Amino acid sequence: MEVVNRYVATRHHIEGAPTEADFEVKEETARWAPDSGEVLVRNLYLSIDPYQLNRMKRSSASHLAVDGILPGQRIAAYAAGEVVASACEEYKVGDVVAGVLGWEDYTLFKPSPAVLMSKVADADAAGFPLSHHISVLGTSGMTAYGGLFEVGKPVKGEKVFVSAASGSVGSLVGQFAKLAGCYVVGCAGTTAKVDLLKDKLGFDDAFNYKEEPDLKSALKRYFPDGIDIYFENVGGEMLEAALANMNTYGRVALSGVISEYTGGGRRAVPDLLEVIYKRITIRGFFAWDFLPRFAEFNAVIGGWVRDGKVQVLEDVSDGLESVPSAFAALFRGQNVGKKLVKLA
Ligand SMILES: NC(=O)c1ccc[n+]([C@@H]2O[C@H](COP(=O)([O-])OP(=O)(O)OC[C@H]3O[C@@H](n4cnc5c(N)ncnc54)[C@H](OP(=O)(O)O)[C@@H]3O)[C@@H](O)[C@H]2O)c1
Repeated sequence: MEVVNRYVATRHHIEGAPTEADFEVKEETARWAPDSGEVLVRNLYLSIDPYQLNRMKRSSASHLAVDGILPGQRIAAYAAGEVVASACEEYKVGDVVAGVLGWEDYTLFKPSPAVLMSKVADADAAGFPLSHHISVLGTSGMTAYGGLFEVGKPVKGEKVFVSAASGSVGSLVGQFAKLAGCYVVGCAGTTAKVDLLKDKLGFDDAFNYKEEPDLKSALKRYFPDGIDIYFENVGGEMLEAALANMNTYGRVALSGVISEYTGGGRRAVPDLLEVIYKRITIRGFFAWDFLPRFAEFNAVIGGWVRDGKVQVLEDVSDGLESVPSAFAALFRGQNVGKKLVKLA
């Protein structure tokens, strides 16, 4: 079987903020054969994630964990799709899967323990929309849940600060922390996002960081008794300001530093004496750390979504051609919730 596969590729390594002109849509023929052991998937929803920018750089610490992306080549990405041909007992034509596929119309994969893939029907007796399987029930949910509960270890009554709080991960972290009985403040880059956090997502308070000339004193205002847990998505000055307002034995769950990915903002220069004398723990982590507990986390998160205790924000663009603008939007603050691209 042969299909024409359109895929999004970078034109060159990207070192600054991405723009649409950094990408192109290319075409190839994808060939599946009955004796190949491979599965051919027609992709339906693509996940658009900030970490991909670090893969697109010539060199980045992220390449220690995930392969870099070479110009002109297809880009592996989390996605959901439908099996259209299979040379493997485990997968049947018509199965719907979610896992590492690609920013492309079709992906061929060979099942192995090293390939992250799950069958949606097995995981989803509740009939959630397919998009949820690459947002709240995908890596965003896993990052938010694992980062908050395994790294932040919230205790009822503790005070939690979340940056990029209206985004995919941040919007879930804030809601999960509320369910854990914490006091939660988030920040975001527009008034509309701030209103959403307070009015729809149940944050105790929220502010627009772009309107705050001094982040340290802003956080002092929102946390007069200090911060116990900082869920870090942004980096730079935000991290410095949060550390200056942390309580003794505070925990920083270091999920991402998006302001530092583009080279546009300055890197955080944390006051390490503060870290020492306040005995602050700063722990980096990534979603894959929690892979062995994926089903366990999703059982809890899925229950919360089903019961209406967690609102899922998804921001969907249409068509493969929209991948470059959808990706660039993350770094311009133009998305609300999980950025996805719907194909077909
Ligand atoms: N460790 C992991 O495994 C893992 C997994 C997923 C995501 N992450 C990290 O989590 C963070 C959020 O990812 P996401 O997928 O949920 O994306 P997202 O928050 O849905 O989208 C990115 C948001 O970041 C904010 N932002 C962009 N540039 C910024 C800047 N220079 N300064 C401050 N805020 C900026 C924007 O919102 P504003 O309106 O607030 O500016 C934008 O909407 C990223 O750092 C990402 O790398 C980590």
